[in-house]
Amino acid sequence: MTILVTGARGHIARGLIQQLLATGQPVRAAGRNPGAARPPAGVDAVLCDLADPDTFDTALTGVTKVFLYAEPRGLDDFLARAATAGVQHIVLLSALLTDPASTDAISRIHRDAEQAVARSGIAWTFLRPGAFATNTLQWAPSVRAEGVVRDPFPDSRSAPVHEADIAAVAVRALTEPGHQGAAYALTGPELVSRRRQAELIGEAVGRPVRFAVQDLEEYREELSAWTTPQVADAVIRESAAAVDRPTPVTDTVQKVTGRPARTYGEWARDHAGDFRDEPS
Ligand SMILES: NC(=O)c1ccc[n+]([C@@H]2O[C@H](COP(=O)([O-])OP(=O)(O)OC[C@H]3O[C@@H](n4cnc5c(N)ncnc54)[C@H](OP(=O)(O)O)[C@@H]3O)[C@@H](O)[C@H]2O)c1
Repeated sequence: MTILVTGARGHIARGLIQQLLATGQPVRAAGRNPGAARPPAGVDAVLCDLADPDTFDTALTGVTKVFLYAEPRGLDDFLARAATAGVQHIVLLSALLTDPASTDAISRIHRDAEQAVARSGIAWTFLRPGAFATNTLQWAPSVRAEGVVRDPFPDSRSAPVHEADIAAVAVRALTEPGHQGAAYALTGPELVSRRRQAELIGEAVGRPVRFAVQDLEEYREELSAWTTPQVADAVIRESAAAVDRPTPVTDTVQKVTGRPARTYGEWARDHAGDFRDEPS
């Protein structure tokens, strides 16, 4: 009956583990560094690197449901072992693709992952979030140090989704009947520009935050520090397109969980500590 939650250190997985525990579900936290996952009391942490098949069998013993990150390496192997272990339902953290025919790196990773899960014969639910609100934590160091958000796209608009809302939808999908075969497009409740996001962070921390338009190549270099050049290109293209053609807002969080999706302002208040000066 155990639910395996992969990516245990991730923002979504941490909230999901707490919420599953509150519903009384047996949960196992899985990650590449289980010691660092530090799950709550009553939850075991196990090694599971989705790119390393040697770590799958122990993690999957006794598991009937999985919350799965879309790590393409090793995915087919993981799914075959999951089927053998008796897993009956996989909730995949995919992504909202604005253009289903797109061949960019982000679209490809998530489309391939969905197709692999669908082929596995295990029942599935796809969570397709748009931009995560947590992406803006990348602004935290400059907000803390100088009260500035640096970004090349002040007028790029999105409806950033709160990690707690993605986790809340995942809880429903993992614990209630009726979600198998569903693909849920998840966004926040309203479009906000990046300039407005900076203002909302300022309101949350109680001091003004200035928006400075960043040089595009400097931005590309920053992106390259944490991802591939292909994903960096895709992020830049999507950010530019979202000035005139933002991804439409959905009401799926409300429909699935019965409560409205949290706004970016609420997210900024929840994370105000991340944007405040360190206490001296
Ligand atoms: N950022 C967005 O706007 C966005 C939008 C739509 C969808 N997504 C999807 O959400 C995913 C996570 O987003 P994020 O980076 O913002 O989240 P994050 O909170 O930084 O978490 C990333 C998690 O991915 C796990 N992970 C990565 N490689 C892994 C591997 N080989 N084996 C096991 N776990 C692995 C890590 O697990 P451990 O370190 O605990 O092992 C980590 O907990 C993305 O990869 C993407 O598929 C993101």
